[in-house]
Amino acid sequence: MAPYDSLRDYAEALEKRGKFIRIKEMDQDKYEATAFYYKLMDRYKTNAPGFLIERMKINGKWYETPVVGNIFCGFDTVAQCFGVENISDNQAQMYNTSVEKVMSYLVNGKWKTIEPVVVDKKDAPCKQVILRGADADLSQFPWVKNNPDDGGQYISAGSFIMEDPELGRNVGTYRMQVKGPHKTGSYFTNQSHGYRFITRAGDRGEDKVDVAVAVGIDPISWMMSSTRLADLGEDEFAVAGGFRGKPVELVKCETSDLYVPAHAEFVIEGEVPMDIEQEGPYGEMLGYIGKQTNTLYMNVKAITHREKPWVYNNWPGIGGGYMTLPWDVGNLIRLKRMMPNLLKLYTPPETASLSIVCIDKKFPGEGIEAGMMVLGYRLVGFSKKMVIVVDKDVEPTDLARVFHAMGTRWQPVPASLLVHHSFHIPIDPSIKEDFLSSKIVIDATRQLPGEGGPDVFPADNRTVMEEKAKEAFDLVEKNWGKYFQK
Ligand SMILES: Cc1cc2nc3c(=O)[nH]c(=O)nc-3n(C[C@H](O)[C@H](O)[C@H](O)COP(=O)(O)O)c2cc1C
Repeated sequence: MAPYDSLRDYAEALEKRGKFIRIKEMDQDKYEATAFYYKLMDRYKTNAPGFLIERMKINGKWYETPVVGNIFCGFDTVAQCFGVENISDNQAQMYNTSVEKVMSYLVNGKWKTIEPVVVDKKDAPCKQVILRGADADLSQFPWVKNNPDDGGQYISAGSFIMEDPELGRNVGTYRMQVKGPHKTGSYFTNQSHGYRFITRAGDRGEDKVDVAVAVGIDPISWMMSSTRLADLGEDEFAVAGGFRGKPVELVKCETSDLYVPAHAEFVIEGEVPMDIEQEGPYGEMLGYIGKQTNTLYMNVKAITHREKPWVYNNWPGIGGGYMTLPWDVGNLIRLKRMMPNLLKLYTPPETASLSIVCIDKKFPGEGIEAGMMVLGYRLVGFSKKMVIVVDKDVEPTDLARVFHAMGTRWQPVPASLLVHHSFHIPIDPSIKEDFLSSKIVIDATRQLPGEGGPDVFPADNRTVMEEKAKEAFDLVEKNWGKYFQK
C-alpha cells in the first residue's frame, strides 16, 4: 500500500497489478535493453510495464545485479504512488484524480512537510554491504550505456544529496558518467539548485563539496529529486514526507555528515572538487544526443548497498522513467493565483518543452494571456517552447481531443503568438544559440467575435452529448463491465 518506502515495495505493488515484468537476461553490449524499451513503448504506450532484467551483459561481462526501468509509465502508476483507490487504465481519470491528490498536499499555499527521521544503521537496508576506499569500485555494478553514441556508462538516476550551511539540504537528480572505478561525472546545469550549492561552497573558499548519491529510492522521494517542486532552501525529503504522510527514513553516511534514504538500493559517497573536465555526449531527455560538455566530477569514497541490489536506470527520451505530474500541479497552483480561470496544465511526459493549458475562457485575449504565462521560464521552472491553450470542454491529457480542437477551433492568424527570442533550455537540439529559442502560443480556444472568430461558434457533437444527455455517459460507466462479459 502507498506510500511505498522503497523502490522494491513499489515494484512489487506494480507486479501485483500485472504492470511489472521480470526478464531473464539481456545483452546490453548489443543494446538489447534499449531496443526492447523502444519496442515496448511502440506496442504498449501507457500500458507498457516496468521491467527488471535479472542479468545483463556489459563490456563483455555478465552482471548478476538486476537492472530496472520504466516504473512510471501511465498515470495509473502515478496514481498508485499517491494511494489513489480504484486504479484503472483510464488515463485522463487517473491524471485528474492524481492532480486532486497532489493539491491536497498544499496547506495555505505551501507544500505540507513532514521532517525526515534518522534510523539506526542496522535498520537501514542500504547499509547491508559497505564498501570503502579501493573496495568502493563502481565497475562491480551494471551501470548502463544506453546508446551507441553515449560517452560511456552512466549512473543515470541518482539523487545527489548536499548540504549548505544556510540553505540546508538539497536533493536533485543529475546524471553521472562513469569515468573510472572511483570517479564519475556530475552534470549540474547552471539553473539547478545543485549548481547553486556548489558555487556557494566555492564562494566560501571551499575546494570540494561532500556529496552522497542515492540510487533506487522510494517513488515520492525520487519524484521530488527529479522535479523543482521544492524551492531553494526547502528540503526535498521534508516535502516528500508531506506527500507521503509519513517521514522519509534517513541514515548517516559513512564518510561525511550527510544523511541518505535508508531504503535506497545504492548510496555512492564522495566529494566534488572545484574542477572541470569533459563529460558526455549523452542521449538527453528530449531524445537527442547532446553535446560534450565541461562539467564537475565526483571522487568516490564509499559505496553502500542492499544485498542483491537493483540498479535503477533511466533511458532518457523513452517511456516513463520519472513523474512530472506534481510539477505541473505546482505550476498550475502558482499561475492560478494570477489567473483563476486557468483550470488545468498538462505537460505530456514525452515532450517536456510543450504544455497544454485548459482555461474557462470569459474574455477575448485570455487564451494568449494564459499561454504567455506558461512560456515564462521563471514562472514554470522548466522552459516551454510551445503552449497549446484549449477550452474547458477539452481534456488536455487526451491528445486526440487537443488535436481536434486545433484542427477545428484554431485559426493560425490571429490566434497565435510568436515570440522570436526567449530564454530556453540549451539541450533543445533545434536552437542555434544556447539558451535562446523562438516560442509559440497556439490559442485553440473557440475564438470570440471580438478576437476575429465567427459570430456564432457551433457546438461540437460531444459537448452537446455531455450537456444534454449526461445520463447516457453515467449509464455507460455503470454498465462498462457488462459490455465486455463473454
Ligand atoms: C533521470 C533524470 C536525469 C536528470 N539529469 C540532470 C542532469 O544531468 N543535470 C541537471 O541539471 N538536471 C538533470 N535533471 C533535472 C533535475 O533533476 C531537475 O531539474 C531537478 O529539479 C534538480 O533538482 P534541483 O531543483 O534541486 O536542482 C534530470 C532529471 C531526471 C529525472
